[in-house]
Amino acid sequence: MNSEERIVPMRLQRFLARAGVASRRGSENLMTAGRVRVNGVVVTELGSKVDPERDEVTVDGRPVRMSGPTYLMLNKPAGYLTTMSDPQGRPCVESLVPCDQYPGLFPVGRLDRDTTGLLLFTTDGNAAQELLHPSRHVTKHYVALVEGIPNAGELGVIARGVMLDDGPAQPAKAHVIDPGDPLYKTVAPNGARSGASVVGIFIKEGRKHQVKRMLAAVGHKVLRLHRDAFGPLKLEGCAEGSWRALTKDEVLAIREVVASGGAAHAQGGERKPNRR
Ligand code: URA
Repeated sequence: MNSEERIVPMRLQRFLARAGVASRRGSENLMTAGRVRVNGVVVTELGSKVDPERDEVTVDGRPVRMSGPTYLMLNKPAGYLTTMSDPQGRPCVESLVPCDQYPGLFPVGRLDRDTTGLLLFTTDGNAAQELLHPSRHVTKHYVALVEGIPNAGELGVIARGVMLDDGPAQPAKAHVIDPGDPLYKTVAPNGARSGASVVGIFIKEGRKHQVKRMLAAVGHKVLRLHRDAFGPLKLEGCAEGSWRALTKDEVLAIREVVASGGAAHAQGGERKPNRR
């Protein structure tokens, strides 16, 4: 853990849960059962705090250490709100990720309820803040099933920065995706109906309904939307509705983006994501 990621002090049950010992509730039970010691002293009081870097915590005599922050990707299905709770009880992404195992997990940014694809989660508030900062927005790649087929003129308007009702969008590269491309199937698994097409678009901003509004502004209503790349991350090895931890290389790549202020991967559509 580097110094920026230090969270001190923290509640002992949160520390135990973050260290993967048990869920937060399970950790509380361990504490009240007298099985947890801090610096050799049994701690049963649930509000007790620890310094994860200085205090020595043991459970049944075995030392417990908290690892660094968690990063994982969810392949979000349609029909889920990007929120960790919904007062109206609608399905939300919280139910699809291991919150018990990684307390403090939250999504980095948002996808609309009907949008599918790559949603990054982390317990690292600092990294999330950096990744979402307007000046550091990383490039995201979306695949959209749209009404009509955008022509070169319309793609040119997007490339120059299409006007939206809350101001111009940054210039973005959009391209029509061929039916033979594996990305096509992400929004049109059975092929697009006649008069519809599939478009790929790279954006750096994260305004509300941004891709839908950009494509609508040039006359192409979005029928389905899917995100297949977020900065250096590609939606690979993760079936719809499931999650996976980022690999070490992916975590390093995300940290590189955070450290570089987004520049490492914010190439504004200079390249297409790897084909799958
Ligand atoms: N742009 C949109 O319009 N919707 C999303 O969910 C993400 C980007």
